[in-house]
Amino acid sequence: MKKIKPLIIAHRGESYDAPENTLASINLAWQRGAEAVEIDVHLSKDNNVIVIHDASTKRVSGKSGRIKNLTLHEIKNLDVGSWKNVKYKNEKIPTLEEVLKTIPPNKKLIIEIKSGVKILPFLKIEIKRANLKPNQIEIISFGYAAVKNAKLILPEYKILLLADLDYNSYTQLVSPPVEKLIEKVKKANLDGLNVWAGKILTEEFTQKVKSKGLLLYVWTVNDFEKTKELVSWGIDGITTDRANWMREKLL
Ligand code: G3P
Ligand code: CA
Repeated sequence: MKKIKPLIIAHRGESYDAPENTLASINLAWQRGAEAVEIDVHLSKDNNVIVIHDASTKRVSGKSGRIKNLTLHEIKNLDVGSWKNVKYKNEKIPTLEEVLKTIPPNKKLIIEIKSGVKILPFLKIEIKRANLKPNQIEIISFGYAAVKNAKLILPEYKILLLADLDYNSYTQLVSPPVEKLIEKVKKANLDGLNVWAGKILTEEFTQKVKSKGLLLYVWTVNDFEKTKELVSWGIDGITTDRANWMREKLL
């Protein structure tokens, strides 16, 4: 299959059509030819690495519960497919172990750590057990301690810091400033940044990051015109709910 630059990343799997962060969504992304899939992980009460975006099960299952207070058995009783479409009724919350087994040769999984550093040793066990090539796994997190410590225990994997960009109309400055973000990334020996692709992200910001030899990924872009602009700036990775639709339009 023809490769295109940037890496087009299927956000929570093929989440435009299938329930986010489920095997249905992830396998649909692979079947449609995705180069990379992004998922979110939390740690359960019994130390299993669980694939779900929110800390709570309420939004996707309709039943209240915190992942950190639930066992894997309790988590597996939930239906997280019906909210999206009745055809996905009884779709379950997967473990990272289950998701790692779906990755086709030469395809990539991007794991976003949504919980604290306590998850790291369990994450490492799962990643090592999957026996994939180091370039098939990347780790991202908003948590600086999470990415910093992940790099220490998993140095062979690409690890990027996530950052929300904000604009302060009083000071007329972007926060956090790109220089500050670059400094943090370099200090922790990380591979790059992954930022929100809103109006605040500019070509100048992009060039500043890339001139330091760092990767720059963005999320979540479902608009083709915006994607074309980001491609022209040289963005390395674009996270989208419609990865295969976007990929085909770019080909
Ligand atoms: O790829 C990064 C992006 O997924 C971060 O935002 O809320 O979708 O996890 P969120
Ligand atoms: Ca995410």
